[in-house]
Amino acid sequence: MRLILVVLVGVALAGGAAAAFVFRPHLPDAERGRRLAERTGCFNCHGPGGIRGAANPGRTDKTVPTFEGDVMMYAKSPDEIHQWIDDGVSKKKAASKTWRAQRDSGALRMPAFEHRLSERQVNDLVAYVMAMSGTPEPEDALPSRGLERAEALGCVGCHGAGGRLAKPNPGSLKGYIPSWDGADFPDLVRDSTEFREWVEHGVSERFKRDRLARFFLDRAVLKMPAYERHLQPGDVEALWAYVRWLRSPEAAREDTEQAGGD
Ligand code: HEC
Ligand code: HEC
Repeated sequence: MRLILVVLVGVALAGGAAAAFVFRPHLPDAERGRRLAERTGCFNCHGPGGIRGAANPGRTDKTVPTFEGDVMMYAKSPDEIHQWIDDGVSKKKAASKTWRAQRDSGALRMPAFEHRLSERQVNDLVAYVMAMSGTPEPEDALPSRGLERAEALGCVGCHGAGGRLAKPNPGSLKGYIPSWDGADFPDLVRDSTEFREWVEHGVSERFKRDRLARFFLDRAVLKMPAYERHLQPGDVEALWAYVRWLRSPEAAREDTEQAGGD
């Protein structure tokens, strides 16, 4: 037994890029929230992924709000999103007569999940709603441009809204497409050079040389495409600036500045 362990640790220490990656699977909060939202029924009313609200006859807004642009009108902070999920309403709205009349006149009502979900689970759902609503947003020009390019180039199809999700990828090393803000990102991307390699060629030189990593990369259903031919000058720098911003404390901050931008 001990010998096997020693061998395994040896493999990891030998610098196997895949080995380091595989030993530490770690889903980002927003992805746990996405999976939970699916299981908990949120998408029945808020639509697939939470971005196409179902018709809600009787109400002036006509459809259930989405987790994208609509959130701004309902919740100004992560804390208010938390209130919506816990209580089926925010403290602010609960005090409004107009809102109560609206709620009573609609066919669909936001349920209160407080007694069904743990605090951790609600926090994961908040992280997912935040990711889908694109908050917080980078303020500086270069990372903003990077986010725009990630959307225009289709990166977010696989890496999720803002590169913040980790959707399933059968056959892959950890079973998911790595997010850009995840704990395991540094295992895959050590610096801007490796980032460029991934984006231009669909794999880094280090991973290309690693046999174990190659085995899993070849076996996965979804593969990182090579974008070299599709990039405009400055794209890689902008994308890298966005990823750097996304991994900074500013982007992870859980205070009032997030959802409302105020
Ligand atoms: C039965 C339908 C239904 C289900 C299921 C449901 N919601 Fe809602 N949700 C609503 C409606 C309707 C509103 C609008 C609230 C209002 O103004 O009365 C809403 C509002 C919200 C809001 C604030 C507005 C916005 O744009 O997002 C959040 C956040 C939210 N829901 C999250 C969730 C989450 C997370 C789940 C699953 C755990 C969920 N909802 C399940 C119907 C539903
Ligand atoms: C078809 C799905 C798909 C698309 C589209 C896609 N990727 Fe990837 N990406 C992957 C997969 C899968 C991996 C993991 C490595 C692998 O299995 O090949 C990955 C890995 C990466 C990595 C390595 C580290 C990490 O944690 O993410 C970076 C950086 C990256 N992609 C950036 C991008 C950028 C930038 C774009 C858009 C220009 C993009 N990807 C578009 C699927 C995709």
